Amino acid sequence: MKNVKVGLLGLGNVGKGTYKILTQNSEKISVFSNSKIDIAKILVSDVNKKRDIDVPKDILTTDAYQIINDPQIDVIVELLGGIDTAYEYIKASLESGKHVVTANKAVIATHGMELMNIAKENRVLLLHEASVAGGIPIITAMMKPLCGNEFQEIIGIVNGTTNYILTQMSENNMEYEVALKQAQEKGFAEADPTSDVEGEDAAYKLTILMLIAFGVYVDPKIIPREGITKISKEDIEFASQFGYKLKLLAGAKNSSGRLKYYVYPTLVPDSHPLASVNNEFNALFIKGDAVGELMFYGKGAGSMPTGSAVVGDVVSVAKCIGTDLLDVTPSQPYPITEEELELTGESKSMYYINFLVGDEPGALGKVSTTFGNHGISIQSVMQRSRGLADVPVVYILHETKRYQLDDALAEITQNKYVKEITSILRVLS
Ligand code: HSE
Repeated sequence: MKNVKVGLLGLGNVGKGTYKILTQNSEKISVFSNSKIDIAKILVSDVNKKRDIDVPKDILTTDAYQIINDPQIDVIVELLGGIDTAYEYIKASLESGKHVVTANKAVIATHGMELMNIAKENRVLLLHEASVAGGIPIITAMMKPLCGNEFQEIIGIVNGTTNYILTQMSENNMEYEVALKQAQEKGFAEADPTSDVEGEDAAYKLTILMLIAFGVYVDPKIIPREGITKISKEDIEFASQFGYKLKLLAGAKNSSGRLKYYVYPTLVPDSHPLASVNNEFNALFIKGDAVGELMFYGKGAGSMPTGSAVVGDVVSVAKCIGTDLLDVTPSQPYPITEEELELTGESKSMYYINFLVGDEPGALGKVSTTFGNHGISIQSVMQRSRGLADVPVVYILHETKRYQLDDALAEITQNKYVKEITSILRVLS
């Protein structure tokens, strides 16, 4: 049996989960990997800090390079988060001939191509299953059993924090702030939740998914995105009355050689499998030309689910040590040119529009006529009269191009009855 020594960079939420799984399930893991996997050193910010996990103090260090430069260590597991320091440590580890496992979507979405090349040059592995959708093994699935497919579409609920917040607002009538605080207490949200609630975290994950599925690198910064901070309980209620659930979706579709991608809060029809994905759960709905539709479902955040994916990668590395590595070496993305796949963010969509309108004769008719004049077809409309002067009027529109919608809305806002456009959301069709 091989001895495989692991250096852990970070003992936060995911670090603790990884440590627990590797120690609690060590017997099964060693049989399966034919290796004795030991955590030899752990990078922490304070060796003397009181911890809710029993870790021998003599393996803790505050110096990352004591781990990266240790010739006994075979695998570095980077669980620090953030971009710059993590990038530096991953690069240094690969260059010193160590395999790297990371859960860090920001670093992989930003520097993944360069780091993969460095790994190849140094004949080591860089695995990052935990970087997308925590415990769901979506990367391995797309790279191994599904690799014979041309992927047509991926739609993901890939952020547990926002899904938890939207579910609590919908099911328990909870205010946004209260639900966010609960998500943080449960350990789903990042230390600074901005990245979660503004859709940045989902955009990082979508960049990684597109790289694996379509072999094309789309900078997360250019992915059109909206977060959930402006979502109101009113919109969630209206959506529900129309037969939809509101979800933050990260999607990419390859239709006739054009790749369309987005991160948007979206109304998902109750009949769609993604509509029933609640709380911190994530899901990936995938269409492949051979396999057809598939859905992966599981916990996308949290200490143990994310640790589960990290440990899976450590075991893959352990199994390869001493072999020619070919079994799990991630393939280089197929070099699709921009001519082959036009990278485009905006496209046709169905929309949900909520207006605040004066409750007067002709108001609804005028708004509806303007949509018709702009060639936009209305699927459903609902007005909630509540005995006030101004009332919400909500439309679900059939597929339309965004510029057509914007032209119609510009005219509608000139209408004296229309006080404000309260929200514009996409509808999955
Ligand atoms: N903060 C992320 C989420 C988990 O809420 O899904 C790590 O990617």
